[in-house]
Amino acid sequence: EKAGYDYFMLKEIVEQPKAVADTLLGRVGADGTLSLDEMRLAPAELREIGKIVIIACGTSYHAGLIAKYAIEHWCRIPCEVEVASEFRYRDPILDRQTLVIAISQSGESMDTLMAVRHAREQQARVLAICNVNGSTIPRESDGVLYTHAGPEVGVAATKTFLTQLVACYLIGLYLAQVRNLKFGDEVTAVISQLATMSEQVERVLDTVGPVRELARSLSGAETVLFLGRHVGYPVALEGALKLKELAYMHAEAFAAGELKHGPIALIEDGLPVVVVVPSPQGRSVLHDKIVSNIQEIRARGARTIVIAEEGDEAVRPFADELIEIPAVPTLLQPVVATVPLQVFACELALAKGNDVDQPRNLAKSVTVE
Ligand code: F6R
Repeated sequence: EKAGYDYFMLKEIVEQPKAVADTLLGRVGADGTLSLDEMRLAPAELREIGKIVIIACGTSYHAGLIAKYAIEHWCRIPCEVEVASEFRYRDPILDRQTLVIAISQSGESMDTLMAVRHAREQQARVLAICNVNGSTIPRESDGVLYTHAGPEVGVAATKTFLTQLVACYLIGLYLAQVRNLKFGDEVTAVISQLATMSEQVERVLDTVGPVRELARSLSGAETVLFLGRHVGYPVALEGALKLKELAYMHAEAFAAGELKHGPIALIEDGLPVVVVVPSPQGRSVLHDKIVSNIQEIRARGARTIVIAEEGDEAVRPFADELIEIPAVPTLLQPVVATVPLQVFACELALAKGNDVDQPRNLAKSVTVE
C-alpha cells in the first residue's frame, strides 16, 4: 500500500536508500570481494568475453548507457549499448565471446525479449538484470542478476533505475575482479564507496525540499532542456524522459559538447536548462568544459538549474538555482544525481494535476513490439 503517501511514486522515491542497500546485500564481502555466483555464469566463461552488448528500453536503456562508461573503464572490454527495438533488425555481430546484458525491470518488455532470443540464436551468452523474479527475460537468459528493489507500482521507473545502476556496477566490478584487472586499487576503493551509496541517497532525499518548490514554479514552462557530460549525459536523458512521461512537457537532453553544434540556437530568455555537472575532482577537464557551457547558455538568457557536487564553488556564480549532491566517485554520481530529477519531474507533474502513478498512454510493462 501507499503507506501514507498520495502516490506510489512518492513512496518509491523515498524507498530508494533501502532498495539500493537491498541490491548490495550479501553480494559485497567484508574484504571487498564480490560474490555473484547466483548469476550462473562461471568465472572461466567471464574471462573469455571479448565484447559486451547491452540492450534495453526507456529508463533501463539509460542505465545501460551509464554501465558502458563504468564497464569499459574498469574492465577494458569494449561495450556497446543499444535500444532493444533496434537491435535485431541491423543484424548485429555476435558470437560465443559476446556477453549480452539485457536490462529490464519487468522482465517482460517484448522488444527486449525479442533481442534476447536473437542474441541466443547467434550463440551469445545472455545475462539479464531484472527486478521481477521468474519473469520471462531471466527465464530465457543464461544467467540473471536480480535487483532487489521490491515491487514498483508507479509506471515511471524510479527505485528500479537506481538498483539497475547498482547491478551494473556490481557486474563491472565483478568482471574486473575475475579478470584480475586493477584489483587491489581502484576497484577495491569503488566497491567500498558503492557500499555507502544508500546513505548518500538518503542525504539527497533529506535536502530536496527546494527542488519541489522550484518544480512548482516551473509548471507553466513549455520546454525544459537538460545537459550533461560523461555519465551526466545519460542522467540528463533520464531527467528529460521523466519530465515527458509524467508532466507531458517537451523536454530534451543533449551532451553539453553538442550545444555548439546546433541546440544552442534553442536558448532564449528565461528558458530553463538543467545541467548535470561532473565532479570537480579527478576529471577537472570535463568540469571546466561544463562550467563554460553553463556560462555560454546563461549569457544567452537561459535560467540555469545546476546539479553539482557540494563544495563546487566554480559553478555557483553561474547557477540561478543550485542543487547540491554529495561528493562520490564520478562513475557512481548518477545514483545521487538522478534523485533530484525524479523529484523535479514528479512535483512538476503534480503541480499540473497529473496522476504520476498512471501517466496517460503508458503501461508498466510493454508486452507488444
Ligand atoms: C520510464 C519507464 C520505461 C521503462 C521501459 C522498459 O520511467 O518506466 O521507459 O523503463 O518501458 O521497461 P522494462 O525495464 O520493464 O523492460
